[in-house]
Amino acid sequence: MNTELAVARAAAEAAGLAIRARWDQNIEVRHKGEIDLVTEADLVAEGIIVDRLRGAFPGDAVVAEEGGGHGGQGGRTWYVDPLDGTTNFSHGMPQFAVSIALADDQGLRLGVVHAPVYGFTFHAVRGEGAWLEGRRLRGGRARRLGDALLATGFPYDRQARPRHNVDRFGHLLGLCQGVRRAGSAALDLAFVAAGWFDGYWEDRLQPWDLAAGCLLVTEAGGTVTAFDGGPADFRSGAVVASNDAVHVELLRALAATVSGKVE
Ligand code: IPD
Ligand code: CA
Ligand code: CA
Repeated sequence: MNTELAVARAAAEAAGLAIRARWDQNIEVRHKGEIDLVTEADLVAEGIIVDRLRGAFPGDAVVAEEGGGHGGQGGRTWYVDPLDGTTNFSHGMPQFAVSIALADDQGLRLGVVHAPVYGFTFHAVRGEGAWLEGRRLRGGRARRLGDALLATGFPYDRQARPRHNVDRFGHLLGLCQGVRRAGSAALDLAFVAAGWFDGYWEDRLQPWDLAAGCLLVTEAGGTVTAFDGGPADFRSGAVVASNDAVHVELLRALAATVSGKVE
């Protein structure tokens, strides 16, 4: 696993350098949807990562957001979000990350989340903890929702579902110290692992948004579940994550909202 970690980390940081070089420049933005954006940085970063993974582990499959992935044999799959937080990036806002995860037949095995402007890299290996550079992560200290700082996000199909997550957001605002919409699911989850957020929920995401971050949270001693409290599946695109202590309260509060059901 040291080789996989070293390759994933080096790939994330090389992609991060390419993104950093394009950050806060006059970048060209293309629209994948009304508010769903892609830039040259997303594509260049994905190319760097996929090339490195293919070179080091030719038998592994790669699922990558911008379509640069490929199939494999042997049951291992890499999940790559080359730039998580493209909307922030396209406005020069530094909250964005490169996210790379490896899954095998037992689930998530490795996750790396690198924040190019902040200059730090989170990583987790199954059974070996979650780390921010040399520091082991243990999740947040809040013991009750009233003391928690939470995060969430809203999907890109806002035109089709204008109220989606709005009721949950409003309800939770009244129950905790604050709810942030920081714009990068991978960093939201990494921040739960670090204890900077105590909880996070979001749905209608993609596997590459969630894979690395989910392993970071569980390896930091936190809890990740589906919205009904059942086992989490990062491939479902919907998770509730927390420091564990506030998890039951967070699930109850989400379920209590008017449109609490996951659409
Ligand atoms: C997005 C970010 C955001 C989340 C969006 C995602 P992208 O990823 O993770 O926080 O709310 O729904 O799609 O498009 O910037 O890679
Ligand atoms: Ca993403
Ligand atoms: Ca992305």
